Amino acid sequence: MKLRFMLVLLLGAFVFLLMPRHSSAEYGDIILNKKAESMRAAEVKDVMFPHWFHRIRFKCKVCHEDIFVLKSGANDIDMNKIMDGEMCGKCHNGIIAWEPVYCDRCHSWEPGWEPGPVQRSKKINGAAK
Ligand code: HEC
Ligand code: HEC
Ligand code: HEC
Repeated sequence: MKLRFMLVLLLGAFVFLLMPRHSSAEYGDIILNKKAESMRAAEVKDVMFPHWFHRIRFKCKVCHEDIFVLKSGANDIDMNKIMDGEMCGKCHNGIIAWEPVYCDRCHSWEPGWEPGPVQRSKKINGAAK
């Protein structure tokens, strides 16, 4: 009986650790949704690009302007390019960062999250890499 109670507690703690954390503020996230219509059709959310997350890991010139023009909305990003190792796929290729098969890690925008200096960004569930 006691052992069983412990097991339930342990399981609870485990589930808690695996829960995605939703409400952390992240500075300067960018919503990418030029392809909104196609994304609706494919039933994926708009893309929430965690700019700051990348900025603290890479020098600006890694991305600007060889990969991305330094202007919001100026880049024509699509899934074919990403799968071909262009744009986000330069890194999200299973070598530098995880492969672009985890759709909802990028397609994570939720209504109510507006672009701005500070906004809420969905944290990645660390379970699968
Ligand atoms: C991993 C790649 C990456 C890195 C590293 C990166 N950026 Fe960006 N940046 C982007 C993307 C993607 C966009 C959005 C482009 C778009 O909307 O088409 C962007 C947009 C911008 C914009 C335009 C924002 C706006 O509202 O018009 C500025 C300014 C910018 N970045 C500055 C920087 C600076 C400064 C650094 C270094 C401290 C940096 N970026 C590092 C990928 C990157
Ligand atoms: C590394 C980040 C990333 C991942 C992972 C990713 N996407 Fe995307 N996806 C994007 C970006 C960025 C765009 C361009 C959004 C825009 O500018 O409107 C996009 C665009 C799209 C579009 C618009 C039409 C097109 O062909 O570009 C669809 C549909 C789409 N993604 C579906 C998916 C599906 C399904 C998956 C999982 C198999 C996936 N995406 C995984 C970043 C990602
Ligand atoms: C210069 C390399 C590079 C480019 C280009 C790049 N990423 Fe990333 N990205 C990374 C790395 C490295 C990580 C961390 C991977 C890890 O934790 O295993 C990451 C993580 C992420 C995460 C998860 C952030 C978190 O909180 O864990 C998202 C979402 C993401 N990238 C989206 C994108 C999108 C969308 C694009 C294109 C607009 C993009 N990335 C372009 C290198 C890049």
